Amino acid sequence: MRKRAAASGAIGAMVLPIIGLGCMGGVESSDNQETAATTTVQGALTSKGATDPGPRPGPAGAGAPVTPQPINADSASAQAAAAVACFPGLSSTMQKLCEQAVIRFQETDSVSGTVGTESGVGLGPTFNGNNCAMCHAQPAVLGTSPGLNSPQNSVPNPQVALATLDGARNTVPSFITAAGPVREARFKTDGGVHDLYTIAGRPDAPGCNATQPNFSAALAANNVIFRIPTPLFGGGLIENVPEMELEANLQTSTNSSLGIAGTLNRSGNDGTITRFGWKAQNKSVTIFASEAYNVEQGVSNLGFPNEREDGASNLQGCMSFNATPEDNTNFSSTGTASDVSSDVLNFALAIQLSKPATPTLPPGVSQNTVTQGSNQFVNVGCANCHTPTLTTAASSFDPALNDVTFHPYSDIALHNMGTGLSDGITQGNAGPQQFRTAPLWGVGQRLFFLHDGRTSDLTVAIAAHASSGSEANAVINNFNSLSESDQQAVLDFLRSL
Ligand code: HEC
Ligand code: HEC
Repeated sequence: MRKRAAASGAIGAMVLPIIGLGCMGGVESSDNQETAATTTVQGALTSKGATDPGPRPGPAGAGAPVTPQPINADSASAQAAAAVACFPGLSSTMQKLCEQAVIRFQETDSVSGTVGTESGVGLGPTFNGNNCAMCHAQPAVLGTSPGLNSPQNSVPNPQVALATLDGARNTVPSFITAAGPVREARFKTDGGVHDLYTIAGRPDAPGCNATQPNFSAALAANNVIFRIPTPLFGGGLIENVPEMELEANLQTSTNSSLGIAGTLNRSGNDGTITRFGWKAQNKSVTIFASEAYNVEQGVSNLGFPNEREDGASNLQGCMSFNATPEDNTNFSSTGTASDVSSDVLNFALAIQLSKPATPTLPPGVSQNTVTQGSNQFVNVGCANCHTPTLTTAASSFDPALNDVTFHPYSDIALHNMGTGLSDGITQGNAGPQQFRTAPLWGVGQRLFFLHDGRTSDLTVAIAAHASSGSEANAVINNFNSLSESDQQAVLDFLRSL
């Protein structure tokens, strides 16, 4: 639920001061149990000297600039800032709705909407973040994990400062570092997300004495895996690809001589293809937005109406600060469609009406090189999983979204990625070693790669595709056999996306 911010005051977590900068190495190695990827790689990247040019500088290829809080949804300047995130050619009604939804996506939550500019209601009892745009921020709002090496918006991991925001008494787990990615943690024993923080100690949570999960014990028992945020640009297009197109695409891209199979994850409820998340575990943008609001921020809502307990302890006294669901349709509002709509509906619309990333030549790279890289990407077999082109059905949101041909570089299917990438988690049909082909659109401006954010280096991400049991082994061998110039062209092509 939204309360309009009136006064300015404390700043949101996204723009808190830098606390202790670490140094940004190419590889995140805090992830002790995942080092298998670097030790069991078959034919590990034969370093011929090709290097990742790094995140592409210049304007963000999608999303809206991060706007300081508080944001007034009715202000013309806030709407103009949000407008650039919207799909081109929307009707004026839908354009306006998109702008207000993108603004709502940046709302910061406190427990009851009464702290400074934290005007959203429902934070906690446990949380990983207090604002969707805190984690979906690079290169702009709706993107992926922010970071210090961003050419667009260099910020430390906001989860460090969040631990003690507004007097909260949390300890920062060892796997959350200023220079590392935003992360959520799952325990292998129960498969679930265990939130990093609780609201205990905040003045708006009197009487709550919850205690965080014991992450050091869980790390010592090798029981923790990590997930970093996936980008949301163009999510409405992925949502609206017809089932039969995905099935036909998978059929044509399987290749037994390359060892590529693949399977689509499906809903246990209605049997349709599920598409979102690292394991394609979630059906729709709306379901993901509802789940994220409850899992990441602790805000109960229409889709997920109950407060979560999720592994924190001593939660008595922390569960009923607000009536539930905390986010609901604003039945008595006489305002715009955005005002009447719940936060989750606004968040979903921000994604559904967003424009995808815009490919751009990286500095000093020619179109010829990008074309060479794109051709080699197809020749060696990357494109068998990373499908370059899909087309949507007609859209009831807006005619501009009808029959859109777009370039996600994903088949939305699950592939066995071997022991090196296994995270030990099963979600729907996706077993421990299976992941959705990560869509590569926008990869040119991403800072951290692979489901756990273990690396910032594209060459490491590519090498990690190869390990015992991976469907990508033959393709990675092909990549390793390319000349240095062809390998470099593939890396330059990826940084153009
Ligand atoms: C603490 C960080 C964090 C916050 C806050 C956060 N997210 Fe995410 N988001 C993630 C992570 C991590 C994933 C990947 C989860 C997975 O697949 O296991 C993700 C994935 C998603 C996806 C799936 C996209 C795709 O194509 O895979 C959607 C949609 C999404 N988030 C929406 C939201 C919305 C809406 C909010 C605000 C209510 C939000 N997120 C808040 C971390 C965050
Ligand atoms: C068998 C299917 C398959 C093939 C072949 C394949 N990939 Fe991937 N790719 C994936 C999957 C699945 C992931 C996500 C793995 C994870 O996060 O654990 C991924 C992740 C990536 C990422 C990281 C993206 C991100 O968002 O973190 C990059 C970059 C990438 N692939 C590039 C390539 C290149 C270049 C090739 C060819 C040399 C290639 N891939 C071949 C399935 C494949």
